[in-house]
Amino acid sequence: MTLGEGPEPLLADALVRIAREVDVCFDTLLPVPGDARDRLYQAMRYAAIGGGKRLRPLLVMAVAGLFGVDRHIAIRVGCAIEAIHVYSLIHDDLPCMDDDALRHGKPTVHVAFDEATAVLAGDALHALAFEILADPALIGDPFTRIELVRTLATASGAAGMAGGQMMDMVAETTSFDLATVTRLQQLKTGALLSAAVEMGAILGRLSAEGRSHLRGYARDIGLAFQIIDDLIDTEGDEAAAGKALRKDEAAGKQTFVSLLGPDRARAQAHMLVDQAIGYLGSHGEEADLLRAIARFIVERDR
Ligand code: IPE
Ligand code: IPE
Ligand code: MG
Ligand code: MG
Ligand code: MG
Repeated sequence: MTLGEGPEPLLADALVRIAREVDVCFDTLLPVPGDARDRLYQAMRYAAIGGGKRLRPLLVMAVAGLFGVDRHIAIRVGCAIEAIHVYSLIHDDLPCMDDDALRHGKPTVHVAFDEATAVLAGDALHALAFEILADPALIGDPFTRIELVRTLATASGAAGMAGGQMMDMVAETTSFDLATVTRLQQLKTGALLSAAVEMGAILGRLSAEGRSHLRGYARDIGLAFQIIDDLIDTEGDEAAAGKALRKDEAAGKQTFVSLLGPDRARAQAHMLVDQAIGYLGSHGEEADLLRAIARFIVERDR
Protein backbone atom coordinates (compact mmCIF):
# COMPACT_ATOMS: atom_id res chain seq x y z
CA MET A 1 0.00 0.00 0.00
CA THR A 2 1.27 3.47 -0.78
CA LEU A 3 0.23 6.73 0.79
CA GLY A 4 -3.15 7.97 -0.37
CA GLU A 5 -4.58 4.54 -1.22
CA GLY A 6 -6.27 4.29 2.16
CA PRO A 7 -6.19 1.38 4.57
CA GLU A 8 -6.47 -2.23 3.35
CA PRO A 9 -10.08 -3.58 3.30
CA LEU A 10 -9.95 -5.60 6.55
CA LEU A 11 -8.76 -2.52 8.43
CA ALA A 12 -10.94 -0.04 6.53
CA ASP A 13 -14.05 -1.97 7.59
CA ALA A 14 -12.80 -2.29 11.17
CA LEU A 15 -12.09 1.46 11.39
CA VAL A 16 -15.57 2.38 10.15
CA ARG A 17 -17.23 -0.09 12.50
CA ILE A 18 -15.27 0.90 15.61
CA ALA A 19 -15.83 4.62 14.91
CA ARG A 20 -19.57 4.03 14.87
CA GLU A 21 -19.49 1.91 18.03
CA VAL A 22 -17.38 4.40 19.97
CA ASP A 23 -19.70 7.24 18.96
CA VAL A 24 -22.73 5.26 20.15
CA CYS A 25 -20.95 4.44 23.40
CA PHE A 26 -20.14 8.09 24.19
CA ASP A 27 -23.62 9.16 23.10
CA THR A 28 -25.09 6.69 25.61
CA LEU A 29 -22.67 7.65 28.40
CA LEU A 30 -23.08 11.41 28.02
CA PRO A 31 -26.77 12.41 27.87
CA VAL A 32 -27.13 16.18 28.31
CA PRO A 33 -28.82 16.53 31.73
CA GLY A 34 -30.91 19.64 31.02
CA ASP A 35 -29.52 21.71 33.91
CA ALA A 36 -26.68 24.17 34.59
CA ARG A 37 -24.10 21.50 33.62
CA ASP A 38 -25.30 21.35 30.02
CA ARG A 39 -22.33 23.33 28.69
CA LEU A 40 -19.91 20.82 30.25
CA TYR A 41 -21.73 17.84 28.74
CA GLN A 42 -21.97 19.56 25.38
CA ALA A 43 -18.21 20.20 25.40
CA MET A 44 -17.51 16.57 26.34
CA ARG A 45 -19.78 15.34 23.56
CA TYR A 46 -18.22 17.80 21.10
CA ALA A 47 -14.76 16.38 21.83
CA ALA A 48 -15.65 12.72 22.23
CA ILE A 49 -18.17 12.05 19.47
CA GLY A 50 -16.93 11.96 15.87
CA GLY A 51 -13.44 12.73 14.68
CA GLY A 52 -10.54 10.58 15.80
CA LYS A 53 -9.21 7.38 14.29
CA ARG A 54 -10.23 5.43 17.42
CA LEU A 55 -6.99 3.48 17.28
CA ARG A 56 -6.91 2.75 21.00
CA PRO A 57 -10.40 1.16 21.14
CA LEU A 58 -9.53 -0.71 17.94
CA LEU A 59 -6.44 -2.16 19.61
CA VAL A 60 -8.42 -3.28 22.67
CA MET A 61 -11.01 -4.89 20.42
CA ALA A 62 -8.43 -6.55 18.14
CA VAL A 63 -6.46 -8.05 21.05
CA ALA A 64 -9.57 -9.05 23.02
CA GLY A 65 -10.90 -10.59 19.81
CA LEU A 66 -7.96 -13.03 19.76
CA PHE A 67 -9.35 -14.54 22.97
CA GLY A 68 -13.05 -14.52 22.22
CA VAL A 69 -13.96 -11.64 24.55
CA ASP A 70 -17.49 -10.25 24.17
CA ARG A 71 -17.22 -7.36 21.72
CA HIS A 72 -19.54 -5.10 23.72
CA ILE A 73 -17.22 -5.34 26.75
CA ALA A 74 -14.11 -4.69 24.67
CA ILE A 75 -15.71 -1.60 23.10
CA ARG A 76 -16.66 -0.16 26.51
CA VAL A 77 -13.14 -0.74 27.80
CA GLY A 78 -11.82 0.84 24.60
CA CYS A 79 -14.02 3.86 25.29
CA ALA A 80 -12.43 4.23 28.72
CA ILE A 81 -9.00 4.61 27.09
CA GLU A 82 -10.47 6.83 24.40
CA ALA A 83 -11.92 9.08 27.12
CA ILE A 84 -8.39 9.54 28.50
CA HIS A 85 -7.06 10.14 24.99
CA VAL A 86 -9.74 12.75 24.21
CA TYR A 87 -9.12 14.50 27.53
CA SER A 88 -5.37 14.54 26.78
CA LEU A 89 -6.05 16.15 23.39
CA ILE A 90 -8.35 18.83 24.88
CA HIS A 91 -5.66 19.79 27.37
CA ASP A 92 -2.84 19.42 24.81
CA ASP A 93 -4.56 21.99 22.60
CA LEU A 94 -5.04 24.59 25.38
CA PRO A 95 -3.25 27.95 25.04
CA CYS A 96 -0.97 27.03 27.97
CA MET A 97 0.18 23.90 26.13
CA ASP A 98 0.28 23.69 22.31
CA ASP A 99 -2.20 26.54 21.76
CA ASP A 100 -4.01 24.90 18.84
CA ALA A 101 -7.26 26.08 17.27
CA LEU A 102 -8.05 23.05 15.08
CA ARG A 103 -8.59 19.37 15.99
CA HIS A 104 -10.34 16.71 13.93
CA GLY A 105 -11.03 19.38 11.33
CA LYS A 106 -13.06 21.57 13.69
CA PRO A 107 -12.31 24.28 16.28
CA THR A 108 -10.68 22.95 19.45
CA VAL A 109 -12.83 22.77 22.59
CA HIS A 110 -11.47 25.95 24.19
CA VAL A 111 -12.17 27.82 20.94
CA ALA A 112 -15.66 26.40 20.40
CA PHE A 113 -16.54 26.81 24.11
CA ASP A 114 -14.04 28.56 26.43
CA GLU A 115 -10.89 27.66 28.34
CA ALA A 116 -12.54 26.91 31.68
CA THR A 117 -15.09 24.62 30.01
CA ALA A 118 -12.27 22.87 28.11
CA VAL A 119 -10.34 22.23 31.33
CA LEU A 120 -13.47 20.84 33.00
CA ALA A 121 -14.42 18.72 29.98
CA GLY A 122 -10.94 17.16 30.15
CA ASP A 123 -11.26 16.61 33.90
CA ALA A 124 -14.67 14.99 33.54
CA LEU A 125 -13.58 12.69 30.68
CA HIS A 126 -10.59 11.65 32.80
CA ALA A 127 -12.97 10.62 35.61
CA LEU A 128 -15.41 8.99 33.17
CA ALA A 129 -12.69 6.58 32.05
CA PHE A 130 -12.39 5.09 35.52
CA GLU A 131 -16.12 5.15 36.12
CA ILE A 132 -16.51 2.94 33.02
CA LEU A 133 -13.86 0.46 34.18
CA ALA A 134 -15.09 0.29 37.76
CA ASP A 135 -18.66 -0.59 36.75
CA PRO A 136 -19.47 -4.09 38.08
CA ALA A 137 -22.29 -4.37 35.56
CA LEU A 138 -19.67 -4.35 32.77
CA ILE A 139 -17.11 -6.71 34.27
CA GLY A 140 -18.23 -8.92 37.12
CA ASP A 141 -14.80 -10.11 38.26
CA PRO A 142 -13.34 -7.53 40.70
CA PHE A 143 -9.73 -8.65 40.04
CA THR A 144 -10.11 -7.99 36.33
CA ARG A 145 -11.69 -4.59 37.06
CA ILE A 146 -8.90 -3.50 39.37
CA GLU A 147 -6.22 -4.68 36.94
CA LEU A 148 -7.83 -2.62 34.18
CA VAL A 149 -8.09 0.45 36.45
CA ARG A 150 -4.49 0.14 37.57
CA THR A 151 -3.18 -0.35 34.03
CA LEU A 152 -5.01 2.70 32.71
CA ALA A 153 -4.12 4.84 35.74
CA THR A 154 -0.42 4.04 35.40
CA ALA A 155 -0.47 4.74 31.67
CA SER A 156 -2.26 8.06 32.14
CA GLY A 157 -0.36 9.64 35.02
CA ALA A 158 3.11 10.92 35.80
CA ALA A 159 4.65 7.54 34.89
CA GLY A 160 2.80 7.62 31.56
CA MET A 161 1.03 10.16 29.37
CA ALA A 162 1.10 13.14 31.73
CA GLY A 163 4.79 12.55 32.46
CA GLY A 164 5.49 12.37 28.73
CA GLN A 165 3.61 15.62 28.17
CA MET A 166 5.83 17.25 30.81
CA MET A 167 8.95 15.99 29.04
CA ASP A 168 7.51 17.25 25.76
CA MET A 169 7.19 20.74 27.23
CA VAL A 170 10.75 20.57 28.56
CA ALA A 171 11.89 19.42 25.09
CA GLU A 172 11.09 22.91 23.78
CA THR A 173 13.88 24.49 25.80
CA THR A 174 16.30 21.64 26.54
CA SER A 175 18.25 19.58 24.05
CA PHE A 176 17.53 15.90 24.55
CA ASP A 177 19.51 12.99 23.14
CA LEU A 178 17.86 10.17 21.18
CA ALA A 179 17.45 7.96 24.25
CA THR A 180 15.62 10.75 26.13
CA VAL A 181 13.39 11.54 23.15
CA THR A 182 12.60 7.82 22.89
CA ARG A 183 11.63 7.80 26.57
CA LEU A 184 9.51 10.93 26.06
CA GLN A 185 7.64 9.35 23.16
CA GLN A 186 7.14 6.09 25.02
CA LEU A 187 5.43 7.97 27.84
CA LYS A 188 3.56 10.63 25.90
CA THR A 189 2.08 8.33 23.27
CA GLY A 190 3.36 4.80 23.79
CA ALA A 191 1.92 4.37 27.27
CA LEU A 192 -1.75 4.69 26.26
CA LEU A 193 -1.30 2.59 23.12
CA SER A 194 0.43 -0.09 25.20
CA ALA A 195 -2.37 0.13 27.76
CA ALA A 196 -4.88 -0.56 24.99
CA VAL A 197 -3.08 -3.78 24.03
CA GLU A 198 -2.54 -4.74 27.67
CA MET A 199 -6.19 -4.19 28.55
CA GLY A 200 -7.26 -6.36 25.62
CA ALA A 201 -4.99 -9.08 27.05
CA ILE A 202 -6.38 -8.55 30.58
CA LEU A 203 -9.91 -9.01 29.24
CA GLY A 204 -8.66 -12.17 27.52
CA ARG A 205 -7.36 -13.35 30.91
CA LEU A 206 -3.91 -13.92 29.49
CA SER A 207 -1.15 -14.69 31.99
CA ALA A 208 1.64 -12.12 32.42
CA GLU A 209 4.06 -14.43 30.53
CA GLY A 210 1.54 -14.94 27.77
CA ARG A 211 1.38 -11.17 27.25
CA SER A 212 5.06 -10.55 26.59
CA HIS A 213 4.88 -10.82 22.77
CA LEU A 214 1.90 -8.46 22.77
CA ARG A 215 3.88 -6.02 24.91
CA GLY A 216 6.69 -6.12 22.35
CA TYR A 217 4.17 -5.45 19.57
CA ALA A 218 2.65 -2.55 21.55
CA ARG A 219 5.99 -0.94 22.38
CA ASP A 220 7.11 -0.96 18.77
CA ILE A 221 3.88 0.34 17.24
CA GLY A 222 3.74 3.05 19.95
CA LEU A 223 7.13 4.39 19.02
CA ALA A 224 6.43 4.12 15.30
CA PHE A 225 3.13 5.93 15.88
CA GLN A 226 4.76 8.99 17.42
CA ILE A 227 7.54 9.09 14.79
CA ILE A 228 4.83 9.27 12.14
CA ASP A 229 2.91 11.93 14.12
CA ASP A 230 6.11 14.00 14.09
CA LEU A 231 6.61 13.33 10.35
CA ILE A 232 3.02 14.38 9.66
CA ASP A 233 3.81 17.55 11.59
CA THR A 234 6.78 18.33 9.34
CA GLU A 235 5.59 16.98 5.96
CA GLY A 236 1.85 16.37 6.20
CA ASP A 237 -1.23 18.04 4.78
CA GLU A 238 -3.30 20.05 7.26
CA ALA A 239 -6.62 19.28 5.58
CA ALA A 240 -5.96 15.52 5.79
CA ALA A 241 -4.58 15.72 9.33
CA GLY A 242 -7.42 17.96 10.56
CA LYS A 243 -5.01 19.84 12.84
CA ALA A 244 -2.45 22.62 12.56
CA LEU A 245 0.95 21.32 11.41
CA ARG A 246 4.55 22.68 11.38
CA LYS A 247 4.20 23.26 15.12
CA ASP A 248 7.11 21.22 16.46
CA GLU A 249 9.92 23.01 14.65
CA ALA A 250 8.35 26.40 15.37
CA ALA A 251 8.31 25.48 19.08
CA GLY A 252 11.95 24.33 18.85
CA LYS A 253 10.86 20.84 19.92
CA GLN A 254 13.25 17.88 19.82
CA THR A 255 11.63 14.95 18.03
CA PHE A 256 12.83 11.88 16.15
CA VAL A 257 12.49 13.93 12.99
CA SER A 258 14.59 16.84 14.29
CA LEU A 259 17.26 14.45 15.58
CA LEU A 260 17.41 11.90 12.73
CA GLY A 261 16.02 13.82 9.76
CA PRO A 262 12.84 12.70 7.99
CA ASP A 263 14.35 9.85 5.95
CA ARG A 264 16.01 8.06 8.84
CA ALA A 265 12.99 8.72 11.07
CA ARG A 266 10.68 7.10 8.49
CA ALA A 267 13.07 4.16 8.05
CA GLN A 268 13.09 3.72 11.82
CA ALA A 269 9.28 3.70 11.94
CA HIS A 270 9.13 1.06 9.17
CA MET A 271 11.72 -1.05 10.97
CA LEU A 272 9.68 -0.84 14.19
CA VAL A 273 6.50 -1.90 12.41
CA ASP A 274 8.23 -4.92 10.84
CA GLN A 275 9.53 -5.81 14.28
CA ALA A 276 6.04 -5.38 15.79
CA ILE A 277 4.55 -7.74 13.20
CA GLY A 278 7.35 -10.19 13.96
CA TYR A 279 6.07 -10.45 17.53
CA LEU A 280 2.78 -11.85 16.20
CA GLY A 281 4.46 -14.90 14.63
CA SER A 282 2.77 -17.33 17.02
CA HIS A 283 -0.67 -16.19 15.81
CA GLY A 284 -2.35 -17.14 12.58
CA GLU A 285 -4.81 -15.13 10.54
CA GLU A 286 -6.78 -14.20 13.67
CA ALA A 287 -4.06 -11.57 14.24
CA ASP A 288 -4.31 -10.11 10.72
CA LEU A 289 -6.14 -7.07 12.06
CA LEU A 290 -3.25 -6.34 14.47
CA ARG A 291 -0.83 -6.69 11.55
CA ALA A 292 -2.94 -4.32 9.45
CA ILE A 293 -3.08 -1.79 12.31
CA ALA A 294 0.72 -1.86 12.53
CA ARG A 295 1.05 -1.20 8.79
CA PHE A 296 -1.57 1.55 8.92
CA ILE A 297 0.39 3.36 11.61
CA VAL A 298 3.22 4.08 9.20
CA GLU A 299 1.12 4.58 6.08
CA ARG A 300 -1.41 7.00 7.56
CA ASP A 301 -1.65 10.69 6.69
CA ARG A 302 -3.77 11.73 9.66
C1 IPE B 1 -2.74 12.25 18.37
O1 IPE B 1 -3.20 10.93 18.54
C2 IPE B 1 -1.98 12.68 19.56
C3 IPE B 1 -0.85 11.83 19.86
C4 IPE B 1 -0.86 11.04 20.91
C5 IPE B 1 0.31 11.89 19.01
P1 IPE B 1 -4.11 10.25 17.43
O2 IPE B 1 -3.51 10.51 16.08
O3 IPE B 1 -4.38 8.84 17.80
O4 IPE B 1 -5.44 11.09 17.58
P2 IPE B 1 -6.85 10.97 16.87
O5 IPE B 1 -6.88 9.80 15.95
O6 IPE B 1 -7.01 12.26 16.14
O7 IPE B 1 -7.81 10.85 17.99
C1 IPE C 1 -0.03 15.05 22.08
O1 IPE C 1 1.11 15.09 21.28
C2 IPE C 1 0.07 13.84 22.93
C3 IPE C 1 -1.00 13.80 23.91
C4 IPE C 1 -2.11 14.46 23.83
C5 IPE C 1 -0.80 12.93 25.03
P1 IPE C 1 1.13 16.19 20.15
O2 IPE C 1 1.02 17.56 20.71
O3 IPE C 1 2.26 15.90 19.23
O4 IPE C 1 -0.24 15.81 19.40
P2 IPE C 1 -0.87 16.63 18.22
O5 IPE C 1 0.17 16.70 17.15
O6 IPE C 1 -1.27 17.95 18.79
O7 IPE C 1 -2.05 15.77 17.82
MG1 MG D 1 1.66 18.45 22.47
MG1 MG E 1 -0.39 19.08 20.17
MG1 MG F 1 2.17 16.13 17.09
